[in-house]
Amino acid sequence: MQSNAALTSKIAVIGTGEVGSTIAYSLILNPVAGDILLVDPKTDVRDAQAMDLSDATYHGNTSTHVRTAEPKEAGQADIIVITAGAAQKEGESRTDLIGRNLKILSSAIEPMKPFREDAILLLVANPVDPLTYFAQKMSGLPKTQVFGSGTFLDSARLRGILAERSGVAASSIDAYVLGEHGDSQLVAWSHASIGGVPIDQVVSGEQIDKNGIAEETKKKAAAISQAKGATAYGIGGVAASLCKSILFDQRNIRPVSHWQEDLGVCLSMPAVIGREGIVRTIPMKLNDEERKNLEGSASSMKEIIQEAEK
Ligand code: LAC
Repeated sequence: MQSNAALTSKIAVIGTGEVGSTIAYSLILNPVAGDILLVDPKTDVRDAQAMDLSDATYHGNTSTHVRTAEPKEAGQADIIVITAGAAQKEGESRTDLIGRNLKILSSAIEPMKPFREDAILLLVANPVDPLTYFAQKMSGLPKTQVFGSGTFLDSARLRGILAERSGVAASSIDAYVLGEHGDSQLVAWSHASIGGVPIDQVVSGEQIDKNGIAEETKKKAAAISQAKGATAYGIGGVAASLCKSILFDQRNIRPVSHWQEDLGVCLSMPAVIGREGIVRTIPMKLNDEERKNLEGSASSMKEIIQEAEK
């Protein structure tokens, strides 16, 4: 399903701070688009990032051009990655950010409208689940074309830890973190497998302390941010990988934050990702405890949305 069309494609990155510029850098190293458009009202930072990132394109095998753009042009890109938002302060949860980042989201989306009809909006700013919900409303695009990076990053972290503990490559492990990209997330242990075999049949409970690993996964972003101020490379890689799945219509299954009709919120569940965005959600029959936790995650998202709508 790979097509050369992607090399004439445009990806707009809204917000050129640490996360936005790292996503742009990942998109240069693993070229998937012809143009990367950088958008930021802080034009001095935006221009400097464009110059610095361009320097990384003049050698090697990338044919990607990095340049600055105004919001109107960004609204016509194939993919619009929204990173614009304030970062978490120490001790602040992702959800505490909603008030500040909702305003920033609105000021990012409104000047880009009307969007190109088949544009995909990829939300990366936090709290990503409520912001995805609001971006669906603000943009006017079909819900399948607006989704958030969600727990794809948490799932990558989980698989990394499981790989270390089990001595098996992360690429041979299937394990998902679902729900909120935040405190109420859950691990779907009932569906975790190594080489297609249920995880409990491959590793012992001593090797894999499930509660401990779930906690370590959840806390990893905070551990990184505490020491260096923010996370960037993990989300950079994840966002670039999602852009590739979209532009090349790869149909990878990724746990991303998208509209859940039965729960009435945006949360991460595994979905097939292609050029049209969310091609379909993969039904995952969770056990009773996991389902309860997922519903709990949905309730806390609803509360945050209602609070923000006041
Ligand atoms: C993280 C940020 C992106 O988990 O929320 O690294």
